[in-house]
Amino acid sequence: MSSNSAKSFVAAIDQGTTSSRCIVFDHGGGIVSVAQKEHRQIFPKPGWVEHDAEEIWANVLDVVHGALQKASLTVHDLAAVGITNQRETTVVWDKATGVPVHNAIVWQDTRTDQLVKELGEQNRFRDKCGLPLATYFSGPKVRWLLDHVDGLRERAERGEVLFGTIDTWLIWKLTGRHVTDVTNASRTMLMNLQTLDWDDELVDAIGVPRAMLPEIRSSAEVYGHATGTLEGVPVASALGDQQAALFGQTCYAPGEGKCTYGTGSFLLVNTGDKPILSQNGLLTTVGYKIGDQPASYALEGAIAVTGALVQWFRDKMGLISSAPEIETLARSVEDNGGAYFVPAFSGLFAPHWRSDARGVIAGLTGYIDKGHIARAVLEATAWQTREVVDAMNADSGVELTTLKVDGGMTANNLLMGFLADVLDVPVVRPIIAETTCLGAAYAAGLAVGYWSDTESLRENWHKAAEWLPSMDPKTRDKGYRKWKKAVERTVGWID
Ligand code: G3P
Repeated sequence: MSSNSAKSFVAAIDQGTTSSRCIVFDHGGGIVSVAQKEHRQIFPKPGWVEHDAEEIWANVLDVVHGALQKASLTVHDLAAVGITNQRETTVVWDKATGVPVHNAIVWQDTRTDQLVKELGEQNRFRDKCGLPLATYFSGPKVRWLLDHVDGLRERAERGEVLFGTIDTWLIWKLTGRHVTDVTNASRTMLMNLQTLDWDDELVDAIGVPRAMLPEIRSSAEVYGHATGTLEGVPVASALGDQQAALFGQTCYAPGEGKCTYGTGSFLLVNTGDKPILSQNGLLTTVGYKIGDQPASYALEGAIAVTGALVQWFRDKMGLISSAPEIETLARSVEDNGGAYFVPAFSGLFAPHWRSDARGVIAGLTGYIDKGHIARAVLEATAWQTREVVDAMNADSGVELTTLKVDGGMTANNLLMGFLADVLDVPVVRPIIAETTCLGAAYAAGLAVGYWSDTESLRENWHKAAEWLPSMDPKTRDKGYRKWKKAVERTVGWID
């Protein structure tokens, strides 16, 4: 294929929570090839989650190589490469050697629980950064490293170590530039949503030396040209994975949104060129910024644990041997038998923001078997979505009429049908469900002129599947009441 025509494709690297992927796209937004590799989840203590940034980098190189090889392509066929990544996960590395000073602290990690409490009232910084004080965000994670790795603060102040979220780590490894994009920066608690720059008050209050922070750039521009495996290819986009999915789902107008079902689930709605502060527990975040155009903002309902619960059910409980088997097991029973599973493994995110919450299974009787628990596992994803949709409706004053979805869990028909039932709106999935990679590819392609504008990208969106609601309102309301009771039982587990 490499002889077909020069620069005919765009590649996207999606460095996610559980795996790294590279997808090569053609001009119609079609998938040419995919390569994927999982990395280790390191759980040193209850509530702690780490990744090895060096392993992630090695896997990224493997999947880039794999995706090119599968399609018989070379770097000369690529117009650009885009990057999308698990957000908030925090890496600090030595500027001279490139060696990380510690494992990366993952977004799900709750070790900063105490620190977050000490930093003050939950909404202290919300006006500036759009986020509540929570263990989820990068700022407190960097602060934890500065407080716990010997001599790190002094080295940071001397400019000898660098901080980055995963986008920054990868761009630095690819090009040697120390940059991040506005969407990733908007998840640190250190960026001001109005100026789109690091904010002195936030940086000082959280206690992060400015010398270690990357430069904040737009989501679509050439940050540099890669060396090594991607030699010479422009690295031309970076977006947090949820913002990339918003972009890939072509949600370019205010009011357009999507929910991505991965390790966690994240519902984002485009709110236009002004940040809107939530009154109902949602996050205000940057949706994307294309070159020197104004930024588009989004409201986000972040749910920490959805697909991760299925993974836990498989790996830690051993009740299924592959994730898709959960649907078969759940279909072995008619309903949940009264069991509700609230997977507050990393506390509760939107709309509750309770770092002290931990998971519960409520409603157990001797009648419950593993099929009912499998149902409760799947239903947890839908009920958590219902909570964030209610918050989104309340914030916007407009009822959601359709939900665009994507991500691995959308392959589960039982779940998608149940989701339409509990939301009481149609749920639709596009043909290219790899919207995260697609969004990063679109942004990179726009930056180098491979695509001309966002309007032309809309034409690539086609509906592949639709689930319509059919549950009677009484059943839905009763289920939701029970779910809320189960949620009440999760809080107050941490002293
Ligand atoms: O904020 C965390 C999110 O970016 C993780 O996404 O798809 O890797 O679970 P995912």
